[in-house]
Amino acid sequence: PLVATAEIVGPAVRGGLGAGAFNVIQIEHAQAIVAGAEAAGAPVILQISENAVRYHGALAAIGRATVEVARAARVPVAVHLDHATEPGLVREALGLGFGSVMFDASARDYDGNVAATAAVAADCHAAGVWVEAELGEVGGKDGVHAPGARTDPAEAAAYVAATDVDALAVAVGTSHAMVVKEAVVDLELVAALRAAVPVPLVLHGSSGVPEADLTRAVAAGLTKVNIATHLNVAYTRAIRDHLADHPEVVDPRRYVAAARDAVAREVTRLLALVRAVPR
Ligand code: G3H
Ligand code: ZN
Repeated sequence: PLVATAEIVGPAVRGGLGAGAFNVIQIEHAQAIVAGAEAAGAPVILQISENAVRYHGALAAIGRATVEVARAARVPVAVHLDHATEPGLVREALGLGFGSVMFDASARDYDGNVAATAAVAADCHAAGVWVEAELGEVGGKDGVHAPGARTDPAEAAAYVAATDVDALAVAVGTSHAMVVKEAVVDLELVAALRAAVPVPLVLHGSSGVPEADLTRAVAAGLTKVNIATHLNVAYTRAIRDHLADHPEVVDPRRYVAAARDAVAREVTRLLALVRAVPR
């Protein structure tokens, strides 16, 4: 069933588990992520980024399809708007039944980020929707991986108090869109942020993190773990392999189904990693 994001992240925090959040580009990604979560017996967050909205030209069609896939699921599924920079897009997501949004003003200076985010958070709370924001920009979306930005714990605490957000994306050594798993998560900083900040912490750019370190990052205090690029790698590899093995294929359902199955398997595996309670 479709649930509010808080119904997935809240229990994860209390259990010391990670909550997997995977990016949807096409309806097949939503289907694959839900199938993977059902196989894992775990709740999952489907997220649609502003970049994906740009690809489709609008949020409504892919947003409605994703909400319907969530409704039909046999595990709890939340739908989240990822990396929105436009307040208008946030309002549209509220109207479509999304359970949460990320408003990303991380490229602005501190005061600009606080002012813009606090206004969006007030609108979302009036609609009963949970809000994630970002402080300390996690880069990489431009293809340049210089994961040097860090979120300061004292500033993060002040930021959450000033904006009233429900979750905070932090810069702790990751970078977006890494195909190689070479990011080093600063686990001491994660622990310091966990101690200083009263809301769940979100890891962006998780595809660049070595898999064993995903479990460590959750144990150190991260809760929502955002994964996109890793699924794109699996999806595209499956299509390449299928087409190489079956050069006569013309029906896209053949190779897209292969990609959907590959993504589902990766989601099942990654959910086990972020939900493993370390000894
Ligand atoms: O918001 C989405 C993520 O931060 C995904 O990052 O593509 O590096 O896994 P990734
Ligand atoms: Zn991100």
